Amino acid sequence: MITVFLGPPGSGKGTQAKKLSAQKQWPQLSTGDMLRLAISEGTPLGQKANSYISAGALVPDDVVIGLIRERVSRPDCEAGFILDGFPRTIPQAQALDQLLSEQSKKIAGVALFEIADSELVNRLTGRRTCPSCGSMFHIDTLKPKKAGVCDQCGTTLAQRDDDKEEVIRKRLQVYSNQTFPLVEYYRTQGKLFVLDARKSPEQVMTNLVDQLKSLK
Ligand code: AP5
Repeated sequence: MITVFLGPPGSGKGTQAKKLSAQKQWPQLSTGDMLRLAISEGTPLGQKANSYISAGALVPDDVVIGLIRERVSRPDCEAGFILDGFPRTIPQAQALDQLLSEQSKKIAGVALFEIADSELVNRLTGRRTCPSCGSMFHIDTLKPKKAGVCDQCGTTLAQRDDDKEEVIRKRLQVYSNQTFPLVEYYRTQGKLFVLDARKSPEQVMTNLVDQLKSLK
């Protein structure tokens, strides 16, 4: 089962991908997480990606396509995987179709996380993540038990550099210009289903699982 999570920054793709991955044992393939890891390790890829991410722009297609090509060829992807934040442009979607057809695989469904931009800025400015285990919190809606500290591993929580309001606005613009055209791309392929991402994380998960059942 190969599922794509499509939606604007802050719509809850990562939150749901983590839950679904734990439930179904499908790896979560997040290009954002892969790029942030490369940045924290100071690799040449990370150095290249950093300027794009901190400006709220997309990293060049060839870089992320290369990352995904390498990742999906690993054995843990055999039974299925969740693509969280990839593809984000039409050339990335075409490259993915090509890559999967080479492996006689195909996308089962594309979940569109639908929510108005006005709700996203607060979600993102309030997000805090654990640099150690990746757990996610929100300063108002998903508070850690002790302020600023990860419930799971006790590490000090951090705010992503691209979660500053001016960068968020740029990311929303980039989504609308470069990523939103994928909605039509996948609707034409008959793969798209829509989730109401304004609902609680639990309700979104229930709807997601129901939709996935109907794909089988
Ligand atoms: P990436 O890391 O993929 O970020 P994104 O797509 O902008 O999405 P986010 O991680 O910000 O949000 P999300 O939808 O996962 O929401 P989350 O669950 O965290 O990409 C970052 C950058 O990397 C890009 O800008 C680009 O530069 C580069 N990049 C990555 N992939 C690329 C690609 N394919 N091509 C080129 N460049 C690429 O939730 C957000 C907050 O909301 C949290 O605090 C959470 O607790 C809260 N929340 C979640 N769900 C709910 C809910 N239902 N109700 C209330 N609050 C909720």
